Amino acid sequence: MRPGKAANIMDESRQGETLLLKQDAPGSRKLFLESYGCAMNFSDSEIVASILSGRGFSTTSDYRQADVILVNTCAIRENAESRVRQRLHDFKKEKRNNPGLIIGVLGCMAERLKSSLLEEEKLVDIVVGPDAYRDLPSLIEKVEGGQRAVNVLLSREETYADISPVRLDSNGVTAFISITRGCDNMCSFCVVPFTRGRERSRDPESIVREAEDLFSRGYREVTLLGQNVDSYHFSSPDGNKTGFAELLAMTAGVNSALRVRFSTSHPKDMSDEVLHAIASHENICNYVHLPVQSGSSRILEMMNRGYTREWYMSRIEAIRRIIPGCGISTDTISGFCTETEDDHRQTLSLIEWAQFDFAYMFKYSERPGTLAERKYKDDVPEEIKSERLAEIIDLQQKMSAKKTAGGVGNVHRVLVEGVSKKSDSFLYGRNPQNTVVVFPRGNFRKGDYVNVLAGSCTPATLKGSAV
Ligand code: SAH
Ligand code: SF4
Ligand code: F3S
Repeated sequence: MRPGKAANIMDESRQGETLLLKQDAPGSRKLFLESYGCAMNFSDSEIVASILSGRGFSTTSDYRQADVILVNTCAIRENAESRVRQRLHDFKKEKRNNPGLIIGVLGCMAERLKSSLLEEEKLVDIVVGPDAYRDLPSLIEKVEGGQRAVNVLLSREETYADISPVRLDSNGVTAFISITRGCDNMCSFCVVPFTRGRERSRDPESIVREAEDLFSRGYREVTLLGQNVDSYHFSSPDGNKTGFAELLAMTAGVNSALRVRFSTSHPKDMSDEVLHAIASHENICNYVHLPVQSGSSRILEMMNRGYTREWYMSRIEAIRRIIPGCGISTDTISGFCTETEDDHRQTLSLIEWAQFDFAYMFKYSERPGTLAERKYKDDVPEEIKSERLAEIIDLQQKMSAKKTAGGVGNVHRVLVEGVSKKSDSFLYGRNPQNTVVVFPRGNFRKGDYVNVLAGSCTPATLKGSAV
């Protein structure tokens, strides 16, 4: 994974990364696996690799060498889908050189478009939705037998809890663990409930076991993933109930040298109990990603987010009160249906008030089948959407730079993730607030915790030396 703020489910801007097994297992067939979208998708690709490596596949970084190409796709905005479509056209051309090549599309776009990808566009041979990956080996066999293959059934139970993900392209230090799948929230702009189905929580014992296993293999940070981690709840057959605060504490209990992160928190559900769990465990990182989407209560209501501007502000105040010095980031959408200049100003003023460390900022993209598409007109002109987005980005960049600069002169506890891309003689890692810190290598290694006194910075990176 690239350095930066990427250990975040929201970073669905990640596109077209090829995931490789660290050591290619010997196998007769070659798999090329490319992933788009959020951390959840990247985490799913590790499950897919695990399922297929048990069936004699090894991965390749060159799609021209592949027997099977699988593209794990994102449907969150229109441009995410156009990129994948283009890529599928490229792959299809490769069939001229390699007639036996099998091409499959996985993930959210597969779920959204279903068999139309096979029938109308004839782009691919296999279409598999996020809950049907166990079926991949038999779907591949079906294609080898001359048929096309689809499984887009969504499940109310599937959590892949028993599958031990193959860590792809891993730095060996940080890893994702999925704790819930699906989403029950129905935000009016969002396609996720349609592509990932109903929310379900994974057995906490299997989550803790996965964290223990990672720790024993040298990993030092896990990020618990879900579309709304605060709604995590599991009832065991003997009636024991586990909520997100308990799950955090259980994961933190694996080892004090294992950092715990999580994403994404939902403003309507993030409880003080969760904040206290973070505050009372040294190894749960002081960092919360809390997407606001808009600063206007009228727009939030139309978005079906379940909170107002004031409620959101009270949640930020609770974070600052219970976890002093906590890093906070957000997501925004510009140009949602009926958004006025005044609504936009309210988003800007909220950003200024909240002093976010970081934000993922988007233009509204209407998604077929969503509540907003059915109920409202996508009536903000494209140029206005772009102008508003640019204004938000401009403001947030200044605030992010100010936040980073505020870390100069302080000592940061950094978990080393690897050698700096810019220079072999430097290492990089992140502080608990998720800011990247770079410092001279010395005798330190990946996976070490190092106290670094920051002496200078760029807008997004602190630079310093070990103390
Ligand atoms: N579960 C997370 C969001 C996952 S999608 C949450 O509730 O916060 C990641 C982000 O993509 C969202 O937070 C939102 O900012 C953005 N997004 C989702 N649908 C979008 C759309 N139709 N147009 C533009 N941005 C969208
Ligand atoms: Fe989409 Fe809302 Fe669910 Fe997030 S909480 S995945 S934005 S429906
Ligand atoms: Fe993630 Fe994109 Fe699906 S953001 S959940 S891969 S639509």
